[in-house]
Amino acid sequence: MARIIGGLTSSHIPAVGAAYAKKQFEDPYWKPFFEGYPPVHKWLAEQKPDVAVVFYNDHGLNFFLDKMPTFAIGAAFEYENQDEGWGIPALGKFRGYPELSWRIIDGVVADGFDVCSCQEMAVDHGFSVPVQLFWGDQTKNPIKTIPICVNTVQHPVPTPMRCYRFGQAIGRAIASFPGAEKVVILGTGGMSHQLDGKRAGFINKKFDLMCMEKIVDDPEELAKISTADLIHEAGAQGLEFILWLAMRGCLNGKVKRLHQNYHIPISNTAAGTLLLENAA
Ligand code: DHB
Ligand code: FE
Repeated sequence: MARIIGGLTSSHIPAVGAAYAKKQFEDPYWKPFFEGYPPVHKWLAEQKPDVAVVFYNDHGLNFFLDKMPTFAIGAAFEYENQDEGWGIPALGKFRGYPELSWRIIDGVVADGFDVCSCQEMAVDHGFSVPVQLFWGDQTKNPIKTIPICVNTVQHPVPTPMRCYRFGQAIGRAIASFPGAEKVVILGTGGMSHQLDGKRAGFINKKFDLMCMEKIVDDPEELAKISTADLIHEAGAQGLEFILWLAMRGCLNGKVKRLHQNYHIPISNTAAGTLLLENAA
């Protein structure tokens, strides 16, 4: 059966896509951010996962306010990356794995999550920036990906606990897939940030570090936070942390933190990177 070997987190700040294209890895502004990734690269090179399931949020590229699914799962052979307006280079096509996508869709629907299945899906910086940060150029030997899009944009958004439970259902579905695939789960976006309104520029380091602690050993307790409290503590876009909770739900139980990096700010955002190994 397919096996979930670990979970990764990464912010998806679009400016990272531009810095990556310009190879600004050693630039003083970018270095403390990019330094968070080589330990994960080393682990990925050792573990060689076959598939990345990526919880992300669409920012108006594939879904707009006229049609906004709460949970949408990609079931395509490939996913085209486009820039929805940040001026970052489009990265071309990401490889899909529809067989596992359909197992996940079947599994979660049987478990009470009625999702939108997408046999065509364009992916924006919410997906492409983290995949590029972990796996680099996707035109050669691309990792198989399954994009899972959660609404963090238009209220009502799913509650943190609902996202955690959604992750648990996906974890069960993956474990029922007949294959020898090693799967990693990505929780993307976050951490605290707010891009507009009176609290534009808001960052909450204390809250972020608490989340990075609790998500390891006490995710069930962390997921009890209300949507309003999460927005109050993390900012309107810091709500993207629900994607991390969905990732953590997939890991079902005990995990070991192998690596962590936290850096503020990058653009308007607190950037958090985690590598969690799933218990066998
Ligand atoms: C920024 C952060 C985001 O999460 C996003 O989607 C767009 C921009 C930023 O900090 O610039
Ligand atoms: Fe975002």
